[in-house]
Amino acid sequence: MKAVIWTKYGSPEVLQIKEVEKPTPKDNEVLIRIAATTVTAGDCELRSLKFPLLLKLVMRLWRGFLKPKENTILGTELAGEIEAVGVNVKKFKVGDQVFGAAGMNFGANAEYICLLEEPGEIEGGVALKPANMTYEEAAAVPFGGRDALHFLRKANPQPGSKILINGAGGSIGTFAVQLAKYFGADVTAVDCTEKLAMLRSIGADEVIDYTKEDFTKSGEIYDVIFDVIGMISFSHSNRVLNQNGTYLLANPSSQMVPGFWTRMTSNKKVIMETANGTIEDLVFLRELIEAGKIITVIDRSYPLEQIAEAHRYVESGQKQGNVVIMV
Ligand SMILES: NC(=O)c1ccc[n+]([C@@H]2O[C@H](COP(=O)([O-])OP(=O)(O)OC[C@H]3O[C@@H](n4cnc5c(N)ncnc54)[C@H](OP(=O)(O)O)[C@@H]3O)[C@@H](O)[C@H]2O)c1
Repeated sequence: MKAVIWTKYGSPEVLQIKEVEKPTPKDNEVLIRIAATTVTAGDCELRSLKFPLLLKLVMRLWRGFLKPKENTILGTELAGEIEAVGVNVKKFKVGDQVFGAAGMNFGANAEYICLLEEPGEIEGGVALKPANMTYEEAAAVPFGGRDALHFLRKANPQPGSKILINGAGGSIGTFAVQLAKYFGADVTAVDCTEKLAMLRSIGADEVIDYTKEDFTKSGEIYDVIFDVIGMISFSHSNRVLNQNGTYLLANPSSQMVPGFWTRMTSNKKVIMETANGTIEDLVFLRELIEAGKIITVIDRSYPLEQIAEAHRYVESGQKQGNVVIMV
């Protein structure tokens, strides 16, 4: 089968489409013929090892110290059709249309993938695809949708809660805006000028252009700040968080120390962790999608052969919502 592999860490040019062995499902796995997958910021970070020093070391130990382990396939999410099932699989049958996440194993930028029917916390997961979505739309739900859900649930948003989402225009952010609205929150979305109209169209009550305005100086106080991108000063944004508010950090990097300090010295809740989505989350998202509460924002789709071009576009920061790869 064709798969996107990379033999060294670096720029998008290191990506190659290579013929690798088609996987065979174990007794508790399903084999999915992938119709669509995505390129996320996380794929680009892993490809180039663009992480803070300590995390970079962890990643090298895990993914290969000097270069990625042989035939490591990128890609975290997918949609497609079940082609075969292991003998112990009960929930799925051949021909089912599904969407899912490859989890920390990656491997979704390929023609086929095997996923466990009952995965552990870091092993992704698969569920029936929303009936009202194309493969292209469904492929972009598992990563951003589940991560947004994971963090927002930690904040337990109530109807009327004031939530600010920083970095709202990308994969996690566009789902976070819609989910926060679904939970009844009053949502302020922060991103660059070009993404504000899209953010309003998916439900943001207020939008702030970070290239023109610093939300930490606006005088508004928020019950929840969800910093998706981790590019703002923790101490500045902490000032506009309610005394009992919740700070969600999807990419804590430099904010770990002030985050722990705030946790210890105030009533504020600071959540900095790895999101671990479940099958139940996929089913929850599917039900919201089928009820018309959530859509996928797709900016561009590329064929698998243009994977390097897709990475370049994602890295340019222009991406609105998601970039899909049609396999
Ligand atoms: N904790 C976890 O479990 C977990 C899991 C997956 C991913 N992550 C991390 O989450 C982060 C975001 O992921 P994503 O896929 O949503 O990324 P994304 O799709 O690239 O979205 C990020 C958004 O932030 C905007 N942005 C950039 N600089 C900004 C600033 N200074 N202020 C406000 N907005 C800004 C970007 O727009 P412009 O660049 O155009 O301005 C873009 O719209 C990544 O760093 C990823 O590593 C964490």
